[in-house]
Amino acid sequence: MMADEGKTLRAAIAGAGSIGVAFAVVFARAGWPVALFDPDPARRSAVLRELRERLDDLDAFRLLAEPPAVMASRVAVSDSLAEVAAGAALVLECAPEQVELKRELFAAIDAAAPPEAVVASASSFLPASSYAGELPGRGRCLVAHPGNPPYLIPVIEIVPAPFTEPAVVERAERLFRSAGLSPIRVRKEVEGFVFNRLQGAVLREAYCLVRDGVASVEDIDTVMRDGLGLRWNFIGPFETVDLNTRGGIASHASKMGPSYERMGAERGQHDPWTPELVGKVAAQRRAALPLDQWDARVRWRDRMLMRLVRHRKEGGEPWPPGAPPEG
Ligand SMILES: NC(=O)c1ccc[n+]([C@@H]2O[C@H](COP(=O)([O-])OP(=O)(O)OC[C@H]3O[C@@H](n4cnc5c(N)ncnc54)[C@H](O)[C@@H]3O)[C@@H](O)[C@H]2O)c1
Repeated sequence: MMADEGKTLRAAIAGAGSIGVAFAVVFARAGWPVALFDPDPARRSAVLRELRERLDDLDAFRLLAEPPAVMASRVAVSDSLAEVAAGAALVLECAPEQVELKRELFAAIDAAAPPEAVVASASSFLPASSYAGELPGRGRCLVAHPGNPPYLIPVIEIVPAPFTEPAVVERAERLFRSAGLSPIRVRKEVEGFVFNRLQGAVLREAYCLVRDGVASVEDIDTVMRDGLGLRWNFIGPFETVDLNTRGGIASHASKMGPSYERMGAERGQHDPWTPELVGKVAAQRRAALPLDQWDARVRWRDRMLMRLVRHRKEGGEPWPPGAPPEG
């Protein structure tokens, strides 16, 4: 069992759908007792089987430190939210993305959870201010938006509302980190946070390219799978262009910036990379990678790509199941 500040930590999960079950895997894997609530009897009866399937798959890939049965034994399912929330250090709200539903559920969780519990919503787009602002315990409420599934995609966006207490934000980050996730802080409550804003930028352009007859859906997916996505597997878009251009990202911006500016304006989004903005980004990149290490890092990138290409040559999962492995 995980201990924080000398106590055994328990996770409570409200909503046992895709994300609720996946969070149960994360916390059971980290040694926490986990209690799941769902109002739907069909979901309650499916949860433990689904959880076991996920754990067995992880085990088959040697990604678990304990037998699946041991981890599964930490998880309980209940039809009582109050029972699940009692004694929790962290309550994860994983119900559908509907503001009224989240408002009611947060009120019920706030009434049932112990005062020291952090109450986090898995919400993809809705900020905590839109459903938790009226609650007596609003200071312990925030969004913790995971990737899907969080037991494989560790980044989790911590999005405090203006009323969230700073100590709660820090505690939430500590708790998620102790469960093996990688929290990042979103400093303002913007719709879609960072993950879905980045995904949205790519999807918006992809839809436009299909609409304008520039490329097919399959070809756009191929550009991502066999192009951009390969590098993005281990470096982000800033580091990608930093390493693509001798002289780093400032040099990239001066050469390519006008072209990107025209492409944005063509889509009705005129957000030029001003010298101040480029300076801010470049300063953070140079702090992360001084230019005298640029050549070595480019070589590292290429060796990472070689690992990835080797991994892909070894074959992927068959699709449909039973077909020869995908390469
Ligand atoms: N699926 C994703 O890729 C993904 C990724 C990150 C975040 N999220 C967010 O996580 C949340 C859950 O998404 P999901 O994909 O797991 O949805 P889902 O539809 O798979 O599961 C939602 C579950 O909530 C239950 N539920 C309904 N009313 C409830 C209530 N009043 N109290 C408690 N549970 C209730 C449902 O019975 C269902 O089991 C949403 O806010 C979603 O935007 C989803």
